[in-house]
Amino acid sequence: MSRVWVTETVERLDEVVEVKGWVMSRRDHGKLIFIDLRDRSGLLQVVFKNGAGAEGLFDKANQLRSEYVVSITGKIQKRGERQINPDMPTGTVELIADDMEILAEAETPVFEIEKAHEVGEDLRMQYRYLDLRSERMRNNLEKRHQIISIIHNYLDAEKFWEIETPYLTKGTPEGAREYVIPARLNPGSYFVLPQSPQQFKQLLMVGGVERYYQIARCFRDEDMRGDRQAEFTQMDMEMSFVEREDVMAVNEAMLIKIVETLYPEKRIQQVPFPRISYKEAMEKYGSDRPDLREDKDDPNLLAFCWVIDFPFFEKTNKEEHHGAEGEWTFTHNPFSAAIPEHREWLQNKQNIGDILTTQYDIVLNGYEIGGGSIRNHKAEDLRKVLEIIGHKPENIERDFGHMLKAFTFGTPPHGGIAWGLDRLVMLLQNEPSIRDVMAFPKTGDARDLMMGAPADVSAKQLKELGLS
Ligand code: AMO
Repeated sequence: MSRVWVTETVERLDEVVEVKGWVMSRRDHGKLIFIDLRDRSGLLQVVFKNGAGAEGLFDKANQLRSEYVVSITGKIQKRGERQINPDMPTGTVELIADDMEILAEAETPVFEIEKAHEVGEDLRMQYRYLDLRSERMRNNLEKRHQIISIIHNYLDAEKFWEIETPYLTKGTPEGAREYVIPARLNPGSYFVLPQSPQQFKQLLMVGGVERYYQIARCFRDEDMRGDRQAEFTQMDMEMSFVEREDVMAVNEAMLIKIVETLYPEKRIQQVPFPRISYKEAMEKYGSDRPDLREDKDDPNLLAFCWVIDFPFFEKTNKEEHHGAEGEWTFTHNPFSAAIPEHREWLQNKQNIGDILTTQYDIVLNGYEIGGGSIRNHKAEDLRKVLEIIGHKPENIERDFGHMLKAFTFGTPPHGGIAWGLDRLVMLLQNEPSIRDVMAFPKTGDARDLMMGAPADVSAKQLKELGLS
C-alpha cells in the first residue's frame, strides 16, 4: 500500500489507507486512545479502539509518546457531528487504526513543537530540526520554495538562463567586510567569499549570455540584525541591451505574479509601483526606504515603491571608505552608470556631488528588498568612477584590471538587480525576522548553535594552510 499525506485523507472517505508521520499528542479516554498524527502536509486524528485491529495494537498505542515516528493503516471515517473541528483541514474525518508500526522512538522534545516560538531563540537554533517541524516553520519553508519556483518559471519564460557563479573568488571593495579563506595550494594567498555575484554577472554579459539570473548565496561579514544575515540569498539578475525601465518592468511584473499566485488574500496598494526620487523620499519621508502603507496595521497590505535618482557619490566618513583613500565614495555600487543626462559630468569628473546614478531600489513596506542599476559598460567610464572614489592607478589595475580589460572586448550595455530574497519572504510571510524564513540561520552574533560553528580546526589543518 502506498502512503498518503494526511491532508489527502479527506478525499479518501471509507477507504483503507496508510499514513506516516510523527505523534503530536496522545489523549487517553479509557477504551479509546486518540493521537494527532503530523506529517509535512498537516495533522490527522487517529483513533485506537481497545479490542479492535491487529493483535496488541492497543498496547502499542499506549506506548506512544510525543514525536514517535509511526506508520498506521486504517479506515478513514467521517467524524461525528460534535467531533468536527473546523480549524483543522482534516477536521471532518478521522482514521480508525487497524495496524501500526513504530518506526522510531523519540526522546521527549526539548520544547513543545508548536510552542517553539515561545522559547528562547538560542534553544530553537540549537534544536533547529525540531523547530522546523512546527507548522509556522513548515509553512515558511514551503512558501519560500513556492516563491523560488515561480521565479524559475517566470524567468525561464522570459529567456533568462540560470548560471552558477563561483563562491571561491577575489575580494572587491563593494561595501561590506568579507569572509576570507586561506588557499592551501597557494600559501599566503586567500580566496574571498562573494558579497554578491556582481562582477561575474557583468562578465557573463561580456560573455554574450544576455539574460542571466541566479538564486545566489552572498556572504557579508556584517553585524547582524533582524533583516540581515552573514550568509543570505539573492535573486540576482542581469540583462544586456536594456535601460532602467526594462529591468524595473520585468521585476515589477514578477513581484506581482508572486503575490497574485501565492497570496490572494493580500492587496498591492498601488500598481504600477510608485517611483520616488531619493530627494523626494528624504524630504517627504525622511528615509530612502519609505513605508507608504495607508494602514500600517493591515497585515495584508503591500506597498511597493521604486526609489530612483540617488546621488552617485558622497563624501567619505572614516569608517566606511570602501578601501579607497579619496574624499568621495560611491553610495551604492561602483559599477553603476550615471543617468544619461549626467554621463558627461562623470566623464569630466565635474559636479561630482550632483551626479545621479541609474541605481533603483525596490522598497516594500519600509524595507529595501532589492537594488540594481544600469552599469558602466565602457572601461573609461568605470575607470572614472574608480578615480573619483580615490583608487590609486596601481590599485585600479590590481583590483579591477580584469573588468576594465573585459570591457575592451565589445561589451553590451547592461544592467540588473538583486532582491534580498529572505527579506521578501519575511515580509510576505509577516515574520519579524529573516531568521524565520531561513532553514538554518545564524544567531545575532553570527554563530550556528546547532553545528557549533564557527569552531577550532585541528593543528594539522592549520599547518597545511600555513597558519598558526
Ligand atoms: P545590494 O548590496 O543592495 O546590491 O544587495 C541587494 C539586496 O540584498 C539584500 N541584502 C541582504 N539581505 C540579508 N542580509 C544581508 N546582510 C543583506 N545585504 C543585502 C537587500 C538588498 O537590497 N550586486 C548588487 C545588486 C545589483 O546591483 O544588481 C547588490 O548586491 O534586500
